[in-house]
Amino acid sequence: MRKKTGRAEGEKSQPIGVEVSRRGFLQGAGGAAAGALIVGPESRAKPTVSLSGETEVKLKVNGDLRALTVEPRTTLLDALRIRLTDPLTGTKLVCDRGTCGACTVLLDGEAVCSCLMLAVDAVGREVTTVEGLAPDGEQNAVQRAMCKHDGSMCGFCTPGITVTLSALLDKNPSASQGEVKEALAGNYCRCGTYPHVFDAAAEAGRELSGGGK
Ligand code: FES
Ligand code: FES
Repeated sequence: MRKKTGRAEGEKSQPIGVEVSRRGFLQGAGGAAAGALIVGPESRAKPTVSLSGETEVKLKVNGDLRALTVEPRTTLLDALRIRLTDPLTGTKLVCDRGTCGACTVLLDGEAVCSCLMLAVDAVGREVTTVEGLAPDGEQNAVQRAMCKHDGSMCGFCTPGITVTLSALLDKNPSASQGEVKEALAGNYCRCGTYPHVFDAAAEAGRELSGGGK
C-alpha cells in the first residue's frame, strides 16, 4: 500500500545523504529568531538578520535537478506546485491532510503523499510527478489505459491514481484486482470512477506483462 510519507518505518526525521537536513534548517531559522529577541532597540529599528527562514535547496524532479527556495514548513506538494520557477501543477492539492491521495508522487519509486512530506526531506531523493510519467509527451501504459477506459471525470483524483497504479504495475504488472484495490486504498475518487480505473489497471497490466493491449 502507498506510504503516507516519504520516510521509511523507523527512519529518523533527518534525510539520508541530503544537502540540507530539516533539523539543521530549523536550527538555523530558530537561531535567527532567537538572535532577533536579544538585540537592543537600536538594532531592532535596523534589523540586520533575515527572519524569512527561507533557503535554497535543489530537488531532483522528473530527472532534472531544480533549484528553488523553501521554508522549513514548505511541503513537497507546495514546492512542486508553487515554489518551482516552472511549477508542476499535475500533482493536485485537495485535502492537504494525507487522506485523499490526490497529491501522490513517486519518491525513489515509492508512491507517497507529497502533502505530508517536507520539501527539505526530498533533497537527495528522486521525485517523479505525473508529468514525469510521460517525459517526452508519450503516455505510459497506465495513462493510455486510463484514457481508453474513461477513468477520469472531474480529474482531481486522476494524477494520484495514475501515479499509484504506475508504481504498482512497474513492480508487479501481473497485479490482481485485489492488489490493485489495496494499492489504491488511499486514493479517493468522489466521482466514483473506480470500475473504469480497475479496467484500466487490468489493461495496463496485460500490456506491461507482455499480454498485449
Ligand atoms: S492532498 Fe495530499 S492526501 Fe489529499
Ligand atoms: S474523477 Fe472526480 S474525483 Fe475522481
